[in-house]
Amino acid sequence: MPAVVVIGGQWGDEGKGRVVDFHSRYCSVIARYSAGNNAGHTIINERGKFALHLVPAGIFRQDNTCVIGNGVVIDPAKLLEEIKMLTDRGVSTSRLMISQHAHVIMPWHPLIDRADEELRGELAIGTTGTGTGPAFHDKVGRSGIRMADLLDAAHFRWKLRTVLEYKNRVLTRLYGLEPLDAEEIEARYLEYGNQLRAYVGDTISFVQEAHGRGEMILLEGAQGSLLDLDTGTYPYVTSSVPASVAAGGAIGIGLGPTAIERVVGVYKSYQTRVGHGPMPTEITDGGDMEMLREGLGGAAGTAEYGTTTGRPRRVGWLDGVLASYTARINGVTSVALTRLDSLSAFERLKICVAYEIGDQRVTTLPATIADAVRAKPIYEEMPGWQEDVTDVRHFSDLPRDAQNYVRRVEELLGARIDMISVGPERSQAIVTRDIFGAALG
Ligand code: IMP
Repeated sequence: MPAVVVIGGQWGDEGKGRVVDFHSRYCSVIARYSAGNNAGHTIINERGKFALHLVPAGIFRQDNTCVIGNGVVIDPAKLLEEIKMLTDRGVSTSRLMISQHAHVIMPWHPLIDRADEELRGELAIGTTGTGTGPAFHDKVGRSGIRMADLLDAAHFRWKLRTVLEYKNRVLTRLYGLEPLDAEEIEARYLEYGNQLRAYVGDTISFVQEAHGRGEMILLEGAQGSLLDLDTGTYPYVTSSVPASVAAGGAIGIGLGPTAIERVVGVYKSYQTRVGHGPMPTEITDGGDMEMLREGLGGAAGTAEYGTTTGRPRRVGWLDGVLASYTARINGVTSVALTRLDSLSAFERLKICVAYEIGDQRVTTLPATIADAVRAKPIYEEMPGWQEDVTDVRHFSDLPRDAQNYVRRVEELLGARIDMISVGPERSQAIVTRDIFGAALG
C-alpha cells in the first residue's frame, strides 16, 4: 500500500490538519515528519475544537498509531502539555509513538531564537520564537540532543555539560544573556524523559514494518512549501531539515522515496502568511483585507489568526504562480482546496496568473527577494457567487461561479481537486475522491 504525504502548498495554515483528520480513517499510521511546535493545526470534530502543535492530527481515531518521526524537533514540556490536554479531554494518547532520534528543543533554543531575531535587524524572519530554528541549527551543526539521550541519565549528563559549556559562551558573549544552570536543566529534562519514556522508541522500524505489511501510512507535513528552506521564499522560511515539502516525508520518517505514491496538496482558496517576507498578492488595507482576515464571508470561527502565536495573518488573493510552482515541487497528485466559504462575500475575485518584474513577465518563483518584492501581480478577475456555501456537500450544488473558480484553480495547479472545504467542521466538505484515489459517491 502506498504512503501518502499531505503537504501545504502555500505559507502554512492551509488546513492540513482537517484534511488529515478527515482521511485518517483509512490509515493505520499517521506520522509527523518535520518541523516542531512552531506548527499549529486547528481541528474541529465532535469532541470540540483542538489546537495541536506536535501530536499528529490522526490522534482522534483510536484505531491508528500516531508517530512523531525522526525529522521532528520536540519541546518536551510542550508535548507533555499537549498530551495532558488531550487526555483531560478524553482523547487517548496510548497509541502515540515518538522517535528516539527526534531532536529536543533545549532551554537555550527559544532564548537564541528571540535574541537572534533582534540581532538580524532588517533580516528578522518573524519566527514563532519557539526555538525550532535554533534546534535545527544544532541538528545540522551536530550538537543536538535527541530523545534517546533523555532516557539515559549518565549519557545525558555528559552530553548536556559538554553542549551547555559551548552554549553558555554563545548566550553570554554573543547575546549578552545570563548563562543557564546545568543542574536545573539536567533534573528537569531527565524528568521529561521519564514522563515520555513509554512513548519513545524505534519508529523507523515500526513504520517500515507497517509499510511492509501493506498498511496505509499517512505522512502529515507541517508549514507550507513556500516556507521550505530549499524551495521557499528564502531567507524568510522555516529551518526544518528534512524539508517540509513532500520529498522530506521519506527522510523524516525513515521510508525510501519509492514508498510515497501519492501527494495531497492542501491549498487555501486565497493566500495567507504569518511572519515577514514577500507576498506579492497581499492586500494591506481596506474592506477586502478585513473580509478575508476576519472570515466575514464564511462560516463562523474562520478568522485568520495564528494557531501558535495568535498573530494576525497577512491575507491576499490566490497566487496561482506560486501555487502551480509548489504543485510541481511536491509532485502533487490530488488537491484539497480549503476555505472556499470565505470567498462567498466577494462580488469579484482575483487570481494572480503571472508577475510583472521590470519589463519581464514571470510565471515562477522570483529569483531574489528583491524581485519578489517588486513583482506586480497580473490578475485574472472572476465573478464571485455571494451565496452561503457552508451547507453544500456536492460539487454540482455549488453556485456556477464557485464551480468556475474551483475549475480555474484546478487548471493552474495541474492536479485534480478532490476535496473542497466549506466550513471548519469535519462534515463541512465536498469530497469527490478519497485520498487514496477511490471515487466517492
Ligand atoms: P520559525 O519556524 O519559528 O523559525 O519561523 C520561520 C517562519 O515560518 C516565520 O515566518 C513563521 O511565522 C513561519 N511559520 C512557522 N511555523 C508556521 C506555521 O505553522 N504556520 C505558518 N507560518 C509558520
